[in-house]
Amino acid sequence: MSERTALYPGSFDPVTRGHLDILQRACLIFDRVVIGVLQNPSKTPLFTTDERVDLIRRSIDDGARVEVGTFDGLTVDFAQQVGAIAIVRGLRVTSDFENEFQMTLMNRRLNPDIHTVFLMTSFSNVFISSSIIKEVFRLGGTIDDAVPPACAEALRRKFAKD
Ligand code: PNS
Repeated sequence: MSERTALYPGSFDPVTRGHLDILQRACLIFDRVVIGVLQNPSKTPLFTTDERVDLIRRSIDDGARVEVGTFDGLTVDFAQQVGAIAIVRGLRVTSDFENEFQMTLMNRRLNPDIHTVFLMTSFSNVFISSSIIKEVFRLGGTIDDAVPPACAEALRRKFAKD
């Protein structure tokens, strides 16, 4: 049987325990999961692409199932490039749905052969987002359990500098 690959795309600015939760679930379904870090999000990212990739690499197990790559074009094009049959996205709260629905339909229109699969985080990760974590760290709060250790460290360093 051929290997089933999924692309898990996102900004990952920075990676959170919520992302890792989705990744772990995706690994139960797919043989290979490629994490695709978007290089040029419309908002200026806090971490450079290299930093975001490095934080992901330091936060995942060395399993053969997961690879990390970067892309700067259409998600469906990168999905095709890595041989993915599906795009994985996490859903937390109902407000995520509208944007995800729109993206899914657009991606399907761009490439009907690539399906989007939504996975839900565990309840403890429902309120975690990269933006809220950056805000809390920027304001001096500590929420180390919401991010992997490498990431908490990087956030502390980033905001200590500024
Ligand atoms: O983690 P994010 O920021 O919610 O991820 C959003 C992402 C990277 C999946 C989305 O912005 C995206 O797919 N960007 C690439 C450009 C693209 O393919 N646009 C058309 C689909 S709407």
